[in-house]
Amino acid sequence: MPAQTESRRTLVVGNWKMNGMLDALPTIGAVDEAARLEPKVEVALAVPATLLLVAWRTACAVRIGAQDIHASPAGPFTGCLSAPMVADAGASFCLIGHSECRLGRSETDADIAAKVLAAERHGLSVILCVGETLEAREAGKAAAVVRRQVEAALPAHARGSWISIAYEPIWAIGTGRSATQQDIQAMHAVLRRTCWSLLGAEGEHVRLLYGGSVTQENALMILATPYVDGVLVGGASLKADSFAPIIAYASQAKD
Ligand code: PGA
Repeated sequence: MPAQTESRRTLVVGNWKMNGMLDALPTIGAVDEAARLEPKVEVALAVPATLLLVAWRTACAVRIGAQDIHASPAGPFTGCLSAPMVADAGASFCLIGHSECRLGRSETDADIAAKVLAAERHGLSVILCVGETLEAREAGKAAAVVRRQVEAALPAHARGSWISIAYEPIWAIGTGRSATQQDIQAMHAVLRRTCWSLLGAEGEHVRLLYGGSVTQENALMILATPYVDGVLVGGASLKADSFAPIIAYASQAKD
């Protein structure tokens, strides 16, 4: 197992999806407090765009990010938000290629690659989400699907510390059924090799996260898995009571 480098500081990200209104600010404050207690861990929240600015003003120890961006900087795209817009509202990173965007909005690999470049151009770091369907896994094609998703989106010139990759098997998202430790380790080994082959030495600095039904019950096991540099957490990130223990486990897991 490769040693954890300084650029691969453990990363715990909450993805609030379409949840959270102004009355969630105390939750952001409590997550910020939890993050402050664990300086070895980098904590981030991908909040709805309506909360970006207030979340950014509330948080000191937590990075605030967007859940998606449009590939263009501005233009006639009703309902969309560009990279410079979310950056202007306090985002320092964005999720790109979440399966709920890939599937719900028929996003292609080319759309995702364009968004990654737009994020880079406007100073946002990226958490690229990849993951296979249950059908692909059962057909033995999971590794090939995930490798293709990464190869299509990762620019050859990318700095490894600028991009993280979240492996989120679609069948594990929001289902209460996380992948097994063995499956996570195997896929993360594929991802690490793919990063090396695309980016050379820079590939060592890309952080590899796991996402899909991460809870306070399974987080320690997942975070202790070889090749896992962090987690992307949906449902369990909505309340500080369930998210704070995951942040604490992230600190313990790499001791
Ligand atoms: P979940 O979502 O933790 O609720 O499964 C994870 C995600 O979609 O990022």
